[in-house]
Amino acid sequence: MEVSLLSLVMGSITSATIGAAARLGVADALEDGPATGAELAKTVGADPDALESLMRAVTALGVFARDEEGRYTNSPLSEQLRTDHPESIRHLTSLLCGLYAQAASGGLTQAVKTGTSVMPHAFGVSLYEYLEKDAETARIFDLAMQDWARPIGAVLAEHVPFENVRTVVDVGGGNGALLKAILSAHPHLKGVCVDRPDTCRRAEAGLRASGNEDLIERLSYQPSDILREVPEGGDLYIIKNVLHDWSSESGVRILSNIRKAMCAGADTGSTSKLLVIDPLKEHDSGAAFRNVIKMVVGEPNTLERSEADIRREAAEAGLQVLSITPCPADLSVAECVVAESA
Ligand SMILES: C[S@@+](CC[C@H](N)C(=O)[O-])C[C@H]1O[C@@H](n2cnc3c(N)ncnc32)[C@H](O)[C@@H]1O
Repeated sequence: MEVSLLSLVMGSITSATIGAAARLGVADALEDGPATGAELAKTVGADPDALESLMRAVTALGVFARDEEGRYTNSPLSEQLRTDHPESIRHLTSLLCGLYAQAASGGLTQAVKTGTSVMPHAFGVSLYEYLEKDAETARIFDLAMQDWARPIGAVLAEHVPFENVRTVVDVGGGNGALLKAILSAHPHLKGVCVDRPDTCRRAEAGLRASGNEDLIERLSYQPSDILREVPEGGDLYIIKNVLHDWSSESGVRILSNIRKAMCAGADTGSTSKLLVIDPLKEHDSGAAFRNVIKMVVGEPNTLERSEADIRREAAEAGLQVLSITPCPADLSVAECVVAESA
């Protein structure tokens, strides 16, 4: 297929169009059956003519379908924009086509010129400073991370041997989506989700509102700045899609804090394990673009790590990597223990 430069450039409008449909909740509104543009506009709270234009555009892309009477339905692609679809990427779409796209268009050129991060050029603050001030975008960010965590939660729940584990600590675990998947499959486990205070507050309120008494009993949220401290008490620590936002120096600092937590209270050496789950160069088909995303929202000097990088950072933090296994969603799992010399 021939790709023109203009069609690539138009990609920004294409993704903004899909992002608007995701934000408005059009796929959810079509769950009960076909609807005209005017009916949809009423349901999602939009201007009828403007929504009709938006729907014509996304339908031309195959995202949503339009029948002969001009009524819209979900297509296989738009199904994934439904909030309750098992492989939903509704919130991830809102985040990528919203904040990330705005940041990139506002600051990427300057960031490339200066070799710094995009966010301060676009908004004057880092990603997490921005999220602390914008509650609605922070809510979407947490849900987008949940979309990202969903495929891997089921894989870990099935393949990690949890028989001898009692407490799993997810470091930078967002709203706890990964732990919810693991705890739901393994009723003997307790989970501790460690994240920034405002993320923990939102996640805890969400869990309580869900009324899931079993998870309310077994899953707790612990606010902590992981660059300073990671709570002790886990038999298994997990850190997923977190290191990739940080430079090598900060990565070693976070891993050292996890190692200290793993060692705490153990007289004869720790038996805790750590799973570092991140995209690694060797197994990531999207590495080139991911480095641009890092430039947009990550710390300066954050590039995708290789297997050798993870082994070196782990060693500097007093950890030993036992194995590295590729897994779905372009991720790899590095299984680590406390190094004998630590
Ligand atoms: C890219 S998200 C990954 C979330 C989750 N692990 C996942 O894979 O879906 C990074 C997470 O690290 C958290 N985080 C960032 N800086 C942190 C800090 N200094 N202390 C604790 N958590 C932090 C963010 O709030 C966010 O939830």
